[in-house]
Amino acid sequence: MKLAPSILAADFARLGEQVCEAQIAGADRIHVDVMDGHFVPNLSMGAPIVASLRPVTRLPLETHLMISNPDRFLQEFADAGSDSFLVHWEGNVNLHRTVRNIRGLGKRAGVAINPATPAEVLAEILPDLDQVLVMTVDPGFGHQQFLHSTLAKIYRVRRMIERVRPECELEVDGGIDPATARLCVEAGANVLVAGSAIFGSSEGVAGAMNRFAAGRN
Ligand code: DX5
Ligand code: ZN
Repeated sequence: MKLAPSILAADFARLGEQVCEAQIAGADRIHVDVMDGHFVPNLSMGAPIVASLRPVTRLPLETHLMISNPDRFLQEFADAGSDSFLVHWEGNVNLHRTVRNIRGLGKRAGVAINPATPAEVLAEILPDLDQVLVMTVDPGFGHQQFLHSTLAKIYRVRRMIERVRPECELEVDGGIDPATARLCVEAGANVLVAGSAIFGSSEGVAGAMNRFAAGRN
């Protein structure tokens, strides 16, 4: 089980420090949520944040693009230091091309699906992926409540992955805390994104991450 703290919930005035804390506490990668106010009803951050973090951490910087035209920004994020891209199935009529473009930049490629999107849409693209991201909330905001209805889909995606591409990671994102993390892992997830449960915890970043490691609430 890998942990990917999402900096969306971090204190941006102390971003480098908080990412270092997460690294020391055993984070496997850093999850960067990019929102354009169009694909999702919120704005977040762009490539300069990735460029600023690149010299601060040796952890992979995973870039979750919740934007309408991901292809337009791949190069910029790659140059800034992104190691992998998660792009959405929704609204992307040329998804195969997008995944090919990511590979062309030498980066890891993942496809994200929203809560209302069935697992089956992944069938044709799965052989080309390093990661699948099952959204466990509707994307756009941190601090939302985990949707239990997504658990059956996580299980279905896990079975698809085992059949087609066992090395592909199955990641979950949204409302993940130690309790919902356990449910997701039981359903077949092996990478957990967590924002508010890590950066918003009164116990601090390391304390919150230890709870995940211990599987405690
Ligand atoms: C939601 C983002 C998430 C977000 C998760 O649209 O994709 O990565 O940061 O935040 P929490 O863990 O607070 O639900
Ligand atoms: Zn995300």
